[in-house]
Amino acid sequence: MATRHFLTLNDMTSAELTDLLAHASKLRQAWRKGATRDSLKNRVLAMVFEKSSTRTRVSFEAGMTQLGGAALFLSPRDTQLGRGEPIEDSARVISSMVDAVMVRTFAHDIVTRFAQASRAPVINALTDDYHPCQLLADMQTYQEHRGSIAGATVTWVGDGNNMCNSYINAARQFGFNLRIACPQGYEPDASLVAEAGDRVRIMPDPAEAARDAHLLVTDVWASMGQEEEQKARKQAFAGYQINPGLMQLADKDALFMHCLPAHRGEEVSADMLDHPGSVVWDEAENRLHAQKALLEFLILGKLD
Ligand code: CP
Ligand code: NVA
Repeated sequence: MATRHFLTLNDMTSAELTDLLAHASKLRQAWRKGATRDSLKNRVLAMVFEKSSTRTRVSFEAGMTQLGGAALFLSPRDTQLGRGEPIEDSARVISSMVDAVMVRTFAHDIVTRFAQASRAPVINALTDDYHPCQLLADMQTYQEHRGSIAGATVTWVGDGNNMCNSYINAARQFGFNLRIACPQGYEPDASLVAEAGDRVRIMPDPAEAARDAHLLVTDVWASMGQEEEQKARKQAFAGYQINPGLMQLADKDALFMHCLPAHRGEEVSADMLDHPGSVVWDEAENRLHAQKALLEFLILGKLD
């Protein structure tokens, strides 16, 4: 059977994603009750990080250990990747020794090339273009709090970045309607928006986009790799903030999510993470459970 990879949400069918999230919620419940599990005993995940991380590293590393396996942290500072060894050679070698590889990098093309040369499943743990693992956690969290997201209205406020692109994929895979409020010049990938058809609408005014929405989501104004644009972005994004005032325009049961890390006073007001509609801490924890489900799916080829 061909090796499966998870580079974007489109690498799985809607039905597979539904099963994966149900399994993730089961894993969460069992883990919270103290149950142990060794489904990935003796299995190894290699984790290649070319950008910083807290949640992604901790969740993958803890997840592998909790399932009886192990994870290796590889940084370009200490490996030959950082000294220019071709991606394909690295992929071939690393994947010949482990059961799965997780990659966090800059250009999306790097994970695509890595996957093409890898004999083990490759997981995209964030590129400049997509962050699909975060969407697994977000969708799991919405479902645990509010049931199915199909037919719901989701409002993205801020940069048309990797997270926003992944929300566009999610809108199609999970059947929700996505409104994107972003300043001119910071829109998400135009071809993705066009392919999504009626599912996705760009609405520059955050207040209009937030009206009656069931979920409000945002992310930092300047992503990793855009540090030099910080000042210009601060100006461009002024007004694109999720705060209790914006939440009031949304549905009364609306939830708020942020992949974190958050910049209080920029894309979120200082009090937003503790708002009654905020589920950001469950969202962060669900990275662990959703990725444990993903690792079982990719390594074992089944969920049970
Ligand atoms: N949300 C997220 O991916 O966080 P880290 O950058 O800390 O991994
Ligand atoms: N858009 C952010 C997400 C961080 C988890 C970034 O790429 O830096």
